[in-house]
Amino acid sequence: MRVRQNIVVFTGAGISAESGISTFRDKDGLWENYDAMRLASIDGFREDPEAVLEFYNERRWQLFDAKPNHAHYALSELEKQHDVTIITQNVDDLHERAGSSKVIHLHGELTKVTSSRDREDDRCIKYYPLNLPIYIGHKADDGSQLRPYIVWFGEELRYIEEARQLVESADIFVVIGTSLVVYPAAGLVGYARHDIPKFIVDPSDMEGKLPEGYLHIKAKAVEGIDILLEELKKL
Ligand code: APR
Repeated sequence: MRVRQNIVVFTGAGISAESGISTFRDKDGLWENYDAMRLASIDGFREDPEAVLEFYNERRWQLFDAKPNHAHYALSELEKQHDVTIITQNVDDLHERAGSSKVIHLHGELTKVTSSRDREDDRCIKYYPLNLPIYIGHKADDGSQLRPYIVWFGEELRYIEEARQLVESADIFVVIGTSLVVYPAAGLVGYARHDIPKFIVDPSDMEGKLPEGYLHIKAKAVEGIDILLEELKKL
């Protein structure tokens, strides 16, 4: 495949699993051990902000120690041949640390903090060192309680419309490491044109989860990305 293609890659927690970051719904996933509605929803934050901040301080610390893996690097490397846009549900910055230049975070970013009065107030969205905890009493620039820049359950996604348009315009669409159960993000798989090559890399059965036309590479990301690159060469 010589011509530069517009490749859109949609990723989830699975791509960062081999970097030591827990997924959510696998057998030892976060939501197996923690109450998602208490710790990752806007109602939970209103009820017990201390518990929510502590939970995210732990996750920010875990990310501080994590490193991108071969799958992250391979996607950034692919930019040498193609226009690659990554739409991720992940709040980690491993795509960026691997060198990917176009990354859209649908569910927020752990490396940033914001206002608890208006989460999407750009004047309050700031980078914040991952090894610095956020505590009750820490203030955003608008004087409100500081919170992690994460989209919690019950909150709107700022970039979903932009993401849908990107998927609709893709020449090739790739899905890596997502269980496709959280909407509206999971609905993106339905926006890829039917006549383009579509792939999913995931070690689990994706039975009944995907519209027609997706080639399932049943492997973990680090192994599956090389199989995907071979498939792309055949196009
Ligand atoms: N490589 C590739 N895929 C993997 C790997 C791996 N090493 N390990 C697990 N997976 C797959 C699982 O089979 C599963 O399909 O990754 C997927 C992880 O699914 P979830 O844990 O549900 O994560 P995700 O789909 O990203 O969750 C979506 O839910 O909790 C919210 O906001 C949170 O963004 C998150 C959203």
